[in-house]
Amino acid sequence: MTQGTAPARSPRILIVHYSRSGHTARLARLLADELVKRGATVDCETLVAEREWNKWLLPLPLLPLLPLLPLYLLWPAFRRVWHRVYWQPQQAIRPLRISDVAGYDQILLGTPKWLYIAYPVARWLATVQGLAGKPVAAFATFCGPPLQVFEIEMLFQPLAARLDRCGARLLGQLAVSSDFHPYFFYGEMRALFRCLSRRCFGRPLKDFTLDGPLGAAAVADFCAALSTAWASSGNLPDQG
Ligand SMILES: Cc1cc2nc3c(=O)[nH]c(=O)nc-3n(C[C@H](O)[C@H](O)[C@H](O)COP(=O)(O)O)c2cc1C
Repeated sequence: MTQGTAPARSPRILIVHYSRSGHTARLARLLADELVKRGATVDCETLVAEREWNKWLLPLPLLPLLPLLPLYLLWPAFRRVWHRVYWQPQQAIRPLRISDVAGYDQILLGTPKWLYIAYPVARWLATVQGLAGKPVAAFATFCGPPLQVFEIEMLFQPLAARLDRCGARLLGQLAVSSDFHPYFFYGEMRALFRCLSRRCFGRPLKDFTLDGPLGAAAVADFCAALSTAWASSGNLPDQG
């Protein structure tokens, strides 16, 4: 350390996530371990729904987009309008352990993709205090490969807009396939996404998961970008 330079303190990071079937939780644990290895102090908040909805009720609020999906996929102007007007469902969550996040240098927010933001995460965004001015990095799991419009934009654009309304800014985003989909009866949706992965990327869907080379590389890049951001940030709040 250079003489006269204040010792760098470890950045305080809060990782918040919701996970219904465990995949986003696994990603959250991996990120926590990796960021601790890189020198961060990490706290975790797991969002728990007051009452988990029946699997067949969950998609009902998402149905209005289905007849409009071709328009959505083909027409960027329509997407922009849709993201402003669509109804984002929320789901009641148990009281937060950390209800004010103002003391953290970075916040990581993890959600499964339920077409858009998972309902408990939307409730967290509407509830939590202290987001103003905070850099928030979002991470997500979804079944499919990283299709630019259907997966990435459909999730992260509305999320970025919500963060913006809270005065926070999206610092980065990470998307990993879980190669898991709960619908419908015999893994039909997973079979569709596996097929799309081969057709659109020429790679098996497994490659985009945490156990595949592209998923693992995306996690490493995301963590490297976060540590670069905190290393270059000269305005960490005082400790204590
Ligand atoms: C209501 C609902 C909607 C979903 N929508 C999508 C979707 O749009 N794209 C996708 O690839 N997977 C979708 N999935 C699958 C989940 O995103 C995927 O299984 C995720 O990895 C689950 O994360 P978890 O185990 O942390 O709950 C959906 C799942 C549910 C329950």
